[in-house]
Amino acid sequence: MILVIDSSSQLNTRIGGLFIGSSEVVVGVGDVLRIDEAVAAHKPDVIVIGPAIPVDTAFATAEGFLAGHPYAQMLMVVEALDSTVLRNAMRAGIKDVIESASLDEQLKPSIERALAISSRLKESLDIKDETVTEEAGDQPGKVITFFSTKGGVGKSVISTNCAVALAKSTGKEVVVLDLDLQFGDVGIMYQMSPNHTIFDAVQAISRLDEDMLKGFLMVHTSGVKALLAPVRPHESDSITAAHVKEIIDLLRKLFDYVVIDTPPSFTDVVLTALDESDQIYLIATMDMPSIKNIKLAIQTLKQLGYPESVIKFVLNRADSKVWLEVDEVEKSLGLKADAKIPSDRIVPRSVNKGIPIVLEQPKSSIAKSLFALAERIKDAEIKTNRGNHDRGGMLRGLVRRLS
Ligand SMILES: Nc1ncnc2c1ncn2[C@@H]1O[C@H](COP(=O)(O)OP(=O)(O)OP(=O)(O)O)[C@@H](O)[C@H]1O
Ligand SMILES: [Mg+2]
Repeated sequence: MILVIDSSSQLNTRIGGLFIGSSEVVVGVGDVLRIDEAVAAHKPDVIVIGPAIPVDTAFATAEGFLAGHPYAQMLMVVEALDSTVLRNAMRAGIKDVIESASLDEQLKPSIERALAISSRLKESLDIKDETVTEEAGDQPGKVITFFSTKGGVGKSVISTNCAVALAKSTGKEVVVLDLDLQFGDVGIMYQMSPNHTIFDAVQAISRLDEDMLKGFLMVHTSGVKALLAPVRPHESDSITAAHVKEIIDLLRKLFDYVVIDTPPSFTDVVLTALDESDQIYLIATMDMPSIKNIKLAIQTLKQLGYPESVIKFVLNRADSKVWLEVDEVEKSLGLKADAKIPSDRIVPRSVNKGIPIVLEQPKSSIAKSLFALAERIKDAEIKTNRGNHDRGGMLRGLVRRLS
């Protein structure tokens, strides 16, 4: 339920128009003084404060109101956006500030995001929503992203093997999304011809639905599907974070697990994947540059507001004979490794053959460690993650809009 507070009815009518045909109810009130009364009557998930309300009144209202309503999300529309308004809005707990001139592009996605956050929060706070009848439908799939800011640490090897291990051990539907858009290796690691790639999906984005997207997925012999990276590096130029969000949303509806492989940097596309993730596995190898990179990545993720419960850590080549000890690394990162993957010569061999180790040598100790990682993914407690780390989106938006 969306509550719009503005002394003019323009914004209310506009938001009503955006949600015609959906089950979302939109109610408008003309005065912030009536917020308590309106909230008691409608129990809104999202409150949008319109541009006709003075910004200081909006901040004071938000601060007073949000403290007592943990799952409600507040958004604000302003005539002109500047860094002071954004900073004060963040302090007041307002989740997004949209400039009137950007309403066309930003209003609906921002409200939808806020609705999703609110429903997740309700779920984690165990607040029953009487207005929504429980539907026994399919649960949306879990999004699992493997990431590191350093190249060559094993993101692609681990993500492709883990996807197959997950499919084998759970019998569930798994897809790999290769977001290393310029140099993606998933096709090679699965020995797949890239007859279709994410580029095709993006070319058709205005018409893209679940059925069409299925047609762009390549099928591995294990049953795992993959949406491959573009064949020609320049094709990645046209792929935006918004496209990737739309594609992840569709994949989540089609699959139980969406496993994402990434390039080694915090691109906009990567940040979108991280925003959408239920679990983020940071991968490090046993060397100082890699550990330093992971430490920075953890700090960055925490600064962006990702809860600690989402951030996981995998030590690859954990048995390498170097002077570092695993427990020292864990202590330095303040995180226990969720998996320790040994180093093994069969890895480069399997990469060159294009056959995942968990299929070719399932009894090897490295395959066992990958199955154990798949088991952890399956069992991970994921109540407090995706949707709660909205501050990342907020900060990112702030950085983008002011730069
Ligand atoms: N546990 C391991 N034992 C032995 N070799 C490994 C192991 N993990 C990875 N490798 C080797 O390291 C190479 C790089 O791994 P991978 O391509 O998965 O890294 P990446 O993090 O995806 O790199 P990029 O950032 O460049 O995409 C692999 O081709 C493989 O040969
Ligand atoms: Mg890779």
